Formats: sequence, C-alpha cells, structure tokens
Amino acid sequence: MTREHNFGLAGFERQLSDHELTRDLAAFEQAVVDIREFPPGNSKVVEACMEATLQDLHNESFPEFNQTVLTFLRDRPDMSAHLKVQLFWRVFQHSLIKSSDNINYPADYAKVMTWQKAFRSILEDAPNAINPDGWEVQELLATHTVQTNEPRRYSGVKIAIDAYSDITGQEPSYVDAGCSAGLGQIQIGENIPFRGVNIDTRKREVRHRVRSGLNKQISFSKIVGFDMISGTSIEWVDACSNPKELADTARNRDRRKYREHLGTHRKYYKRLHGDLSEGDPGIKAVMDENNGQKYDVASALTMLYEIPVDLQTKATKTLEYLSKCLVVVVDFAEISHEDPTQLITAKNIYAPGSRYRLLAKELTGDNLNWQHLGTFDNGRCTSFKPEKILLKRYVDLGL
Ligand SMILES: C[S@@+](CC[C@H](N)C(=O)[O-])C[C@H]1O[C@@H](n2cnc3c(N)ncnc32)[C@H](O)[C@@H]1O
Repeated sequence: MTREHNFGLAGFERQLSDHELTRDLAAFEQAVVDIREFPPGNSKVVEACMEATLQDLHNESFPEFNQTVLTFLRDRPDMSAHLKVQLFWRVFQHSLIKSSDNINYPADYAKVMTWQKAFRSILEDAPNAINPDGWEVQELLATHTVQTNEPRRYSGVKIAIDAYSDITGQEPSYVDAGCSAGLGQIQIGENIPFRGVNIDTRKREVRHRVRSGLNKQISFSKIVGFDMISGTSIEWVDACSNPKELADTARNRDRRKYREHLGTHRKYYKRLHGDLSEGDPGIKAVMDENNGQKYDVASALTMLYEIPVDLQTKATKTLEYLSKCLVVVVDFAEISHEDPTQLITAKNIYAPGSRYRLLAKELTGDNLNWQHLGTFDNGRCTSFKPEKILLKRYVDLGL
C-alpha cells in the first residue's frame, strides 16, 4: 500500500520551526487529554493508552517515545491534533494485533502499565540492533490515514438515494470519496439489506418507510470508490477498528466474516486512487472512469473531518463537482448557520456534543443549501433518528 503524492506527508512540503513544533506538541497533548476524557465507545483500552501516552511523553528514561511523537509531528504538519492522536493509538494497536508474541489484545490493555510495557517493547531498540516494530510504527505514522470502514454507515446513502429517487433516476451512477476498503459501497451494489439499524421514531409508518428504503433493490449503472491511499490493506483497515471490535467474541467473529465476505464481492464496484482535497487533478481518474461525465450521486462518509480545515471547502466543492444530482455526506458535521451551503466538521469527533449526521444537497434545483436528513447514534450506526425534512421528502414524493 502506498501513497502516491506527498499531501501532508513527511514534512516534504514544509518544515516546522522549533516554535511550531512546541505549539503542535502542546496541541497533541491536549488532544490526548480530550480523548482520555471521552474515548471512542467509552473504551477503557483507549483511555489507558491515552494516560500511558501522557506519562511517557514526560518520561526522561524513555526518550524513544518522545522522539517518536516529535518525528510524527514533523512528518504530518497538516493533520489536525485530534486526528493525529486517533492515528497514533491505531498504529500501536496495529503493532499489537499483528504481534506473534503472546499478547492478549485488547483484553489485557485496560491498564496503563500494560500500555507502557507495550510502548517500550515496540519502540526500544535491543542493544546494538534496531527494533523493526519501532521503525514500522514511524513509517505508519508518517504515511497512513485512519481507515475505519463500517459498511452500515452506507445505510445513510441508501436512505438519501431513496428519498431523492425523483432526481437520481432509475439506474444511478454513484461515486464515493474516501472509500477505504469500499465495504459499504459493495453492500449497496450487491443490494444486501442494511440490518441492525434501529429507526428511532415513535411513528410506525415512518419506521416502515425508512426501512423499505433501506431494503429497496436499486440497480446502479456504475459504482466507483476512491481514496487518497491507493490499494487496500485489510489488515490496516481492521487495525483502525475500536478495541472492542477486536476482542475475540462470537459477535466480532461474525462481523469479521461478514466483512471478509463483502471484501471478495467486487462485481459491481471499482476502487480508484484520488485525493478530494486536490481539486481537479485529484479526481481526474475518477471522472475518466465515467467517460468524463459527472456521477448521479457522490458521497463522502467519515472523511471530510480528516481533511485539514483550510482544505475542507475545496474538498466539499470538488465532491459537489463530481455529482450532477445529489451529494450525500455522513460525518461528524453540521450545516453552517451563516452559510447553509457549507458544512462545518467537528474538531473532536468523540466530544459529547459531536453528532454523526446524514446530510444531503440537491444539485438540480435553485436551493443549494445542505439538508439535514437525520442523525445516527454514532459512527457505528446502530440507530437512526429521521429529521422532519426527510419525512417531507417522502410526502413530496407521494410515498
Ligand atoms: C475514516 S475512513 C472512512 C471510510 C469509509 N468512508 C467509511 O465511512 O466507512 C476515511 C477515509 O478517507 C480517506 N481520505 C482522507 N482524506 C482523503 C482525501 N483528501 N481524498 C480521498 N480520500 C481521503 C482515508 O484514506 C480513509 O480511507
């Protein structure tokens, strides 16, 4: 798996001054504190990892740890502090789950001391020898993105396509930016119903209506996904899961089996390389794939928040440029009050106020404002609360 350009990579574009490095270290530490306070899924494992990180950053007898963090900060100057921390624990998690040592991950890792031992065994060099795990950690920190891929998130896309079926047409073409392994798009293309999404409303007819949209069979003329990371490493995508999802339980074994099943179904799905934040050059191959035509539907799920804030407007514009009918975003984002044609993403996606929303923009009429169709309980999408605007779409469509 390689990155084919150096956007935000390894400080090739700019060097941090000492002052900037000190500032970024302080921001990194603050983000560690924030994530320790509100870890994803209340994970005790991530909480302990964050506490161990804070302690080891100030541990003079363990300079390798501090050096690893400083190199990471130099390498990725454009990444937000909270995203750096999300990537940081995923990289160590990756090292632990692929380790052949007798490591009981995540079960034994709700303790700070276990993490501290792990940090040492991964980063400390043996006398007169380098530690390959430590080098791999640095390499992953310099080059990788957080690539969580949750198929159920794409239930939001299915709901939106169904609600806007009057403009997307009978056999829509569909492109997804930041597709990771493409599992959600594969589920959509294979017309596998989205199960396990509770529709959070007291109105029975609304529940039925949303569910019938989720189960609807749609044949797509084309399904294309692209990502700034070319190639997919399922091992890395798995390592981006939350620790709970990696525990050896029957439920997780089923989850893994289902993901593997999706991963082998690529009949209706093509994955390309592209960078949404680069504008036109970043999506050339994607447009070429559709003979230079725009797609009926373009989506971006859990990816805009990963783009540096100063590039998000450009990235969203590029996403809209890719589509001729409908744009769908599912992200920790909200519609700007000042300018409802724009979105604002959450700084810390795990903070209590951040919400995982289904947002859509129609491109065929005069109203280019984003519409908030509903809200998921979190990025695992086990519950969806429809908004009035979605119900109005159903009424307008006479459904
Ligand atoms: C958290 S994952 C989400 C994957 C998938 N959309 C989902 O929701 O399950 C974010 C993905 O966006 C990709 N990404 C981030 N910035 C990107 C950009 N500027 N252009 C294309 N892909 C990007 C990352 O490489 C990663 O695979």
